[in-house]
Amino acid sequence: MSNEINSNDLLSLCRRRGFVWPSFELYGGVAGMFDYGPLGSNMRNNIVEVWRDIYRGREGFIEIDSETVNPREVFKASGHVDEFADLVTYCTKCESAFRADHLVKEFFDNPDVLSPKELDDAFVKFDVKCPECGGKLGLVEEFNLMFKTTIGPGSSRVGYLRPETAQGIFVNYLNLYRYNREKLPLGVIQTGRGYRNEISPRQGMIRMREFNMMEVELFVDPEDKGWSRFHEIENDPITLVPNTGTEAVTMTVGEAVSKGIIANKVLAYFVYTTQQLLVRLGVDQKRLRFRQHLRDEMAHYAMDCWDAEVLLSFGWIEVTGIADRGCWDLSRHAEFSGTELTHFKKFDEPEERETDKVKAKHKALGPRFKDKAKSIAEMMEAKRPSDIRDGKLALKVGDEEVILDGEFFEVVRVREKISGERVIPHVIEPSHGLDRIFYSVLEHAYTYDKKEDYTVLRLAPEIAPIKVGIFPLMEKDGLDALASDIYKKVHSPSMEAYYDGSGTIGKRYARMDEIGTPWCITVDYESLEGPSKGTVTIRDRNTTAQKRIRADSVQEALRSLLSGRRFEDL
Ligand code: ATP
Ligand code: GLY
Repeated sequence: MSNEINSNDLLSLCRRRGFVWPSFELYGGVAGMFDYGPLGSNMRNNIVEVWRDIYRGREGFIEIDSETVNPREVFKASGHVDEFADLVTYCTKCESAFRADHLVKEFFDNPDVLSPKELDDAFVKFDVKCPECGGKLGLVEEFNLMFKTTIGPGSSRVGYLRPETAQGIFVNYLNLYRYNREKLPLGVIQTGRGYRNEISPRQGMIRMREFNMMEVELFVDPEDKGWSRFHEIENDPITLVPNTGTEAVTMTVGEAVSKGIIANKVLAYFVYTTQQLLVRLGVDQKRLRFRQHLRDEMAHYAMDCWDAEVLLSFGWIEVTGIADRGCWDLSRHAEFSGTELTHFKKFDEPEERETDKVKAKHKALGPRFKDKAKSIAEMMEAKRPSDIRDGKLALKVGDEEVILDGEFFEVVRVREKISGERVIPHVIEPSHGLDRIFYSVLEHAYTYDKKEDYTVLRLAPEIAPIKVGIFPLMEKDGLDALASDIYKKVHSPSMEAYYDGSGTIGKRYARMDEIGTPWCITVDYESLEGPSKGTVTIRDRNTTAQKRIRADSVQEALRSLLSGRRFEDL
């Protein structure tokens, strides 16, 4: 078998067999856009179910589904309007667009940290020309990757297609926090589309303009970055490339934390959870590593970030980013929306503390606000000294905004017993790119025997799009009736079966092997008469071994194999 993958061979298999199709081929296609066919949709859904099993099942996180079009305010607060840009250069001759950092990849270890000016200089120094026509490259400029739209007719309400699903979770923080009965940790997951107007998508499913994400936002107490289940995984190995060097090192998760390589246990736990997810899906652990971002490589919101990178025919490719987003998102949304987004952290014992408080001056409020004075005083005293801007407090009284100056309030120091304090939760985020994971799993499962011209996709059974092929040896003599009877009993969304009665048995096995079907059932003449009456053969894809089992036990046999029983133990 050859493991030398040509991504074009794999993509052509994907098109031919209905995993993925380039979108809009009828109209010439659009770069960076793909449609999932029937097999691809099944497999993608199966991947999502494994991710759900880990996060919702094992960790008890909750799942939401938020809007993909968001008003501008959301992305102004999140920083994407001002920061979410790549650097572009256009050829002055043929006008093709290129991501500027990609054109100097061979000259720098980390070209995406270069400024526009440094890239312009690099084009001159290394004599970089347009890869399409050899023309001179224009000056490098910023290009915001968000797709812009308007919400409703006219152009008054600007919106953007979300570049990450995460913001839908952050803007729902208060709803989620209440749902979680105001407790931390609060783990929320969301899967759905993300949109990025990538400058020049040229690597198949690796860089798409509309892609699928599986994101996890975990809100934790900023002073408590431990994790109760850390001890379960601390002795397990992980391969890391810390930002202090370029060498990959394999160590236990516990060592990574105790040596200060991964900053805290919760981040380490979810880096390792990503490894568990990817390996369970079929990524080869020997071709998986976690690379820490350099300080100047980090996204605008991140305090620390580790990328899960998988070795593919394109080189090492990021499939998941695990970031410590600190309090960035909640504090920005609090600031931009004027709403407090915090957690009330109760002390074990009430503490006596001196604090500053806003105190209403009733004598001044009464004559001015008459019957509203009492409620205005209460609203003022609910504010904090940090809400005072330029010596003034802003209040919403009915529909009216009332600005009050120091004539109406003062700040006084008081000693009081407090039962807790408000803190802004920190966010740990494993952000999985579903399409890149889907593609990685296919590459790592793909084996091609050149001599035999035979392809096998060794997909993990739980994500294989079809679990079992069901064949009558011949479509006659009652073999077909028994085979379709078995098909009807077995087939369900969680045990997708495929009935195939045409071609030689060898060809039918080959068709199933090529799409990764782990097992095949064949009904032959022995199934109908003789000592083996009432039995069928079951074949294992990876070993091609075959066994006879009772026809009425097929369903149970398949269920047990799918739950991990070994074929030899059947
Ligand atoms: P890259 O540096 O490769 O552009 P990124 O650092 O911008 O990726 P993130 O912002 O961390 O990626 O996004 C989280 C995950 O979403 C990535 O790990 C990746 O798997 C996926 N992803 C991001 N952009 C794309 C894209 N254009 N097409 C497909 N998947 C993507
Ligand atoms: N939510 C992580 C990212 O899109 O970068």
